[in-house]
Amino acid sequence: MDQMEIQPRPHTLNGTIHVPGDKSISHRAIMLGSLAEGRTTVKRFLTGEDCLTTIQVFQSMGIHIEQNGDEVKIEGKGLHGLSESVTPLNLGNSGTTTRLLLGILAGTSNHYTLFGDQSLSKRPMNRVVDPLREMGAFIDGREHGNLLPLSIRGQSLKPIHYRLPVNSAQVKSAILLAGLFADGTTTIMEPVKTRDHTERMLQAFDVNVKREEDLIHISGGQTLTGVDIEVPGDISSAAFFMCAAALKENSEITLKDVGLNPTRTGIIDVLKDMGVSMTVNTTRHIGDEPVGDITVKGGAMNGTTLSGDLIPRLIDELPIIALVASRAEGKTIIKDAEELRYKETDRIQAVVDTLKQMGVEVEATRDGMIIEGSTNPLKGGTYSSYHDHRIGMMVAVASVICEEKIMLDHPSCISISYPSFFDHLDALYTQR
Ligand code: S3P
Repeated sequence: MDQMEIQPRPHTLNGTIHVPGDKSISHRAIMLGSLAEGRTTVKRFLTGEDCLTTIQVFQSMGIHIEQNGDEVKIEGKGLHGLSESVTPLNLGNSGTTTRLLLGILAGTSNHYTLFGDQSLSKRPMNRVVDPLREMGAFIDGREHGNLLPLSIRGQSLKPIHYRLPVNSAQVKSAILLAGLFADGTTTIMEPVKTRDHTERMLQAFDVNVKREEDLIHISGGQTLTGVDIEVPGDISSAAFFMCAAALKENSEITLKDVGLNPTRTGIIDVLKDMGVSMTVNTTRHIGDEPVGDITVKGGAMNGTTLSGDLIPRLIDELPIIALVASRAEGKTIIKDAEELRYKETDRIQAVVDTLKQMGVEVEATRDGMIIEGSTNPLKGGTYSSYHDHRIGMMVAVASVICEEKIMLDHPSCISISYPSFFDHLDALYTQR
């Protein structure tokens, strides 16, 4: 059985680490590099399983991609260079690959079948299927095309004006990518701003994408030109160590070269609001993405309320924020976060059940949770990762302050986004 024993660690966390490359940006680098004319090189590519899935999928559509550790070379074949795949495309656990890929495949003149693992096969796809059908793609699958396996036959696409019904960068990106193939200008209205890596990276590939307040415009038929990309460190991975240090009094850690795109930095705002002592220095820009160093010190914290426009800026960090909130003074309320129910697992339920098992007073709501902070010790025992990397890492970070042994079931899922997570955690105990 895939299980890991995590012993209590009485010491503080200290030292410096470089977290691996950003997951969202790594996916996009492979996708846009494949659609570009000429060669694209990627440095600090995230070698997590989800991003390796993206490489495999594009290789099986005839793109030559060479991966050497975290360096990748892609020989792009242009907008219409993807070939049909003889075998169905295996999307594994990766929602980002699936949804963005559907946007690309919609504009090809090929037929594809897509399938994934148990978790991915439960995740809603109608959020991208509906607008792509409106643009002209033929898509079918279980629940009339809502659930994998899906089959898609690309068509010549027409542009649409589309208001995003969910605050999702994956949906926005799928439509932007389909918009590259459409005959005219596609406009997306985004009522709440979500991560904008697709827009920024399209511009780096020489594509004209225009933002006017909450509208984004893209015209079809533009040529992408291959580029050299360096991927910033993933703030969503860094978040686990920011929170680990915040939780343990007298700790002090620095995370180097972390992506600080403002659509992703909600975690910094919230930790500061909770009273965590931290400094953030933007040191440079990689392409159009700001990057910098984050130093966090452990100490007393207070509860807070998280809602509204902030939520998409920290959606993947909510599980670890919930753990931190359980140690803060007072109540923390998370609302407007129903999207958490549609991630790799229902993260509202998984977080609430896990924290309850640890002895935390916490209650699930329809769109979030209410956490009562306390100094009561957390309970050890056997915990599940729910086969969800971010729940697995949340449990592992709890071990930083738990005085009893924790057994973590299915820890291997952590390699979806952070294969070196436990090495980095250990490193923060040996650099004192
Ligand atoms: C992602 C967007 C987010 C996030 C996911 C990655 C992306 O999903 O949760 O981990 O790379 O675009 P939604 O846009 O569906 O909220």
